[in-house]
Amino acid sequence: MATIKSGIPGLDTLFEPNEFPKGRQILVTGPPGSGKTVFGLQFLLNGALHYGEPGIFISFDDLPRHIRADMFSFGWNIQQLEEFNPPLITLVDGFSARVGLTTDEKYTIRANVDSLLLVLTEILEDTGATRVCIDSLSTLSTIIKDPAQVRKEILTMGAILGEQGCTTLLTAETLAMGVEEYSSQGLIRLSYDELSTGEFRRAILVQKMRGFAHEFSWKEFRITADGIKIFPDRTIGRGQFK
Ligand SMILES: Nc1ncnc2c1ncn2[C@@H]1O[C@H](COP(=O)(O)OP(=O)(O)OP(=O)(O)O)[C@@H](O)[C@H]1O
Ligand SMILES: [Mg+2]
Repeated sequence: MATIKSGIPGLDTLFEPNEFPKGRQILVTGPPGSGKTVFGLQFLLNGALHYGEPGIFISFDDLPRHIRADMFSFGWNIQQLEEFNPPLITLVDGFSARVGLTTDEKYTIRANVDSLLLVLTEILEDTGATRVCIDSLSTLSTIIKDPAQVRKEILTMGAILGEQGCTTLLTAETLAMGVEEYSSQGLIRLSYDELSTGEFRRAILVQKMRGFAHEFSWKEFRITADGIKIFPDRTIGRGQFK
């Protein structure tokens, strides 16, 4: 099985080869604020900075300038990586058109007008990216009205990206929205819950990863000033919540 280093501290040890699956399409789900966007960007930034893997981030949930600013709070300078030639990170604005704003961004997607697949293929050719994050599938599904069309685009995209050895993270808010239909090759869940003390704990579960032996229990993680850090030795049991 082909693997990569994810760049998220503690994540790779959840998989038996101690590395993250390469070239797969993986759903990252969780409730609001559970860390899906940070997870996706940390995966891309560290891939680009440390492992020679340029990345593409397609944002349907927020303006690229907000993303640059939010990630700067971790000390991550996306803009600097965007300015390389070819770029180490490419941000694609799928947000502005959705809410009727004009945009100065170089790369945009007008849902129902531009094909996600065509835009992505063009950027892949230009940048040689091998990591992609689409944030989020839930929003994409609400923009493209026809569920069959979304499903077809996602499946086709998965096949093309996989063929090119590209590892893709698709974020989604919950499983209840029908995202399970996309039949991804892996499913990682992010969550949080309240302890009896009133504190909250964050937890991550690798629920599915085709072809890989992996940990199958909730592990604690934190979002620190340096980003996401997973503690593979800290299993979070139901009894520890509430
Ligand atoms: N600089 C930072 N230092 C520590 N924690 C931070 C920092 N920036 C954000 N966070 C934490 O990360 C959370 C946001 O995570 P993120 O935006 O990735 O969640 P999400 O699952 O994508 O949410 P949504 O569903 O709303 O898009 C914040 O609510 C905050 O708790
Ligand atoms: Mg988000």
